[in-house]
Amino acid sequence: MSRSAVTSTAVHPLLAERWSPRSFDPSHEVTAEQLTALLEAARWAASAFNGQPWRFIVGRRGDEAHKVLFDSLLGFNQRWAGTASVLVAAVAAEVKEDGSPHSTAAYETGLAVAQLTTQAHAEGLHAHQMSGFDGDRLRAAVGIPEGFRPIAVIAVGAPAAADLLADEKLRARESAPRERRALAETFFAASWGTPAELVSAAGAG
Ligand SMILES: Cc1cc2nc3c(=O)[nH]c(=O)nc-3n(C[C@H](O)[C@H](O)[C@H](O)COP(=O)(O)O)c2cc1C
Repeated sequence: MSRSAVTSTAVHPLLAERWSPRSFDPSHEVTAEQLTALLEAARWAASAFNGQPWRFIVGRRGDEAHKVLFDSLLGFNQRWAGTASVLVAAVAAEVKEDGSPHSTAAYETGLAVAQLTTQAHAEGLHAHQMSGFDGDRLRAAVGIPEGFRPIAVIAVGAPAAADLLADEKLRARESAPRERRALAETFFAASWGTPAELVSAAGAG
């Protein structure tokens, strides 16, 4: 199913065609090469002073890590995410080795996740990020040390037909229009709230 972004000018298909499904093929398995590619894409993200504040917990459906990650999800995410071939938790090191706060840790961990997500699409997979999980539960189950904060759990797999979702609301959301705030309300010139020049010229506000 294509749910491409509607853009005022063409953007790369990997970005335009990315979306977050909830119906994943319960029999699909990622290959070792695909999974390694996702992790390498995340590992090679940029970070301030190359600090690489991210860590990841990686589970493939059927293994212990997938179970632990699934158990940490809140109920509304457990309704659909169990069929994902892979569940990954992104964890940010919020304290540097010298004990000082790492102010950009969450930002950089998000960048790493964005790269993982884009690589997933390049592999013909889809990814769905979730903040709806219990970080304390995950911390206790995995032994995540103090100073590290779980930021998100990401479901990755092959998208499947919406009909496979038991929940009617979730089925409807699977094909609902994808929307974004207008360019002119997002990108500003020298004065806050005034659309950036190119944005007004694009007439896409
Ligand atoms: C940090 C983050 C947390 C999210 N948390 C959840 C979540 O807990 N459950 C869920 O179903 N979707 C979650 N989403 C998915 C968003 O709802 C989705 O990305 C957004 O509606 C835009 O849709 P699209 O990704 O298909 O463009 C999350 C996305 C991000 C980036």
